[in-house]
Amino acid sequence: MTPPDAPRASRRRRKIVARCRSIADLRAAARRRLPRSVFDFVDGGAEDERTLTDNAAAFKLLRFQPKMLVDVTTVDMRTTLLDGPSALPVIVAPYGACGFSWPRGDHAGAEVAEAAGIAYAMSSTASVALEDIAARHQGRRWFQCYIFRRREITAELIARAEKAGFETLVITVDLPVGGNRERDYRNDFSVPFRYTPRNVTDFALHPEWSITTLRNGMPTLANLAAFGNVNDVNATASSVGRNYDPSFNWDDLAAIRDRWRGKLVVKGIARGEDARRLVALGADAIAVSNHGGRQLDGALPTLFCLPEIRDAVGRAAEVYLDGGIRRGTDIVKALALGADAVMLGRSLLYGIAAGGAVGARRALDILTQELGRTMQLLGAPRLADIGPHLIARSDLLAHLDPSIARTLLPEADASPAVARPEHHYEKDPVS
Ligand SMILES: Cc1cc2nc3c(=O)[nH]c(=O)nc-3n(C[C@H](O)[C@H](O)[C@H](O)COP(=O)(O)O)c2cc1C
Repeated sequence: MTPPDAPRASRRRRKIVARCRSIADLRAAARRRLPRSVFDFVDGGAEDERTLTDNAAAFKLLRFQPKMLVDVTTVDMRTTLLDGPSALPVIVAPYGACGFSWPRGDHAGAEVAEAAGIAYAMSSTASVALEDIAARHQGRRWFQCYIFRRREITAELIARAEKAGFETLVITVDLPVGGNRERDYRNDFSVPFRYTPRNVTDFALHPEWSITTLRNGMPTLANLAAFGNVNDVNATASSVGRNYDPSFNWDDLAAIRDRWRGKLVVKGIARGEDARRLVALGADAIAVSNHGGRQLDGALPTLFCLPEIRDAVGRAAEVYLDGGIRRGTDIVKALALGADAVMLGRSLLYGIAAGGAVGARRALDILTQELGRTMQLLGAPRLADIGPHLIARSDLLAHLDPSIARTLLPEADASPAVARPEHHYEKDPVS
């Protein structure tokens, strides 16, 4: 029997979504629909949210120097990721507890990824079971796994993913312990959900969300339901993270690499030396990520970790980036600094929260259109035309915005290499 899909958006919701012109508009629509505790769970980061803010600010700091008089009548955004086709240089990032944003919203993400011809990385802490995703969606399915203290859970989840035909395993390594997400504590947000006077009031103020959610049942972490002692195991989402294994290390990862026959992505990397060691261990792709600023506050924005990591691995592995991508221009900047693809986290989640599958599609359409238009305006009609030569030199950027440059780009005046890592880019940028 086919498992139930995510419920469809009402006509009113579809209209709200259709009016959204940007990811910021979808975020605003999500904010209006969700109770505050749920919105903050999606939107928030760790502690002072410095890294959350910096991830996005780093993109805004870079500026383009476009090429003119190039025929940009047609734009080709297709690429190959991990030996498979990808219609865009984009992957749907894993997000746990998605059912709080939209009932069984995981299906919305998977459906939209399949229709768009891009990979969907399902979270181990998703709100639907991995077998349900496999039963409903034929596209490129990747499975993200956390490392649980009870190691048999990790081993079994990976075995289930293999059996269900997930092609790629994503191991997230930036969560040895839960980040300190203070918004969740203040709002009494936890999984499994606990009703408190504060969040019951919050629900009452958001009747559309409350009725839909209660009608479909409070979301659970469905992949973990089989492991007994559910409450304890499930208390992993959000700020708690107490069931993750802080002892997980290189040897443990090597053992996973030995067992898993498909492609392996390691997510949550910030240093070139770690990336190089991962390539030696047999990782096929490195995902430069700080968990969207939800873990270590004060971590360098991912965009600024990227050149070092691309440099360290050369072409021996693919490199992805996530964190703060809200515009097509952000995608181009990540590609220009060495990423093969970006992973979409909140930008797609805001869409799901605003309108389920319709909202997710709107988010992806907006970003696709922005990406295509940016490539045309830059004189870069193919992905291979995008490179660091299209980004303005960092000493010029420092003049433009010295305060941001000092905060985010400490060596901006001295070292143009930060924003112009010509050496890592293998293709001839002049075309
Ligand atoms: C609500 C939420 C849940 C997340 N759950 C997971 C998860 O289960 N596994 C994981 O590897 N990353 C998870 N992440 C991190 C994302 O995969 C991604 O790294 C991050 O969202 C990228 O930053 P951005 O949202 O600013 O684009 C989650 C992020 C959010 C916002």
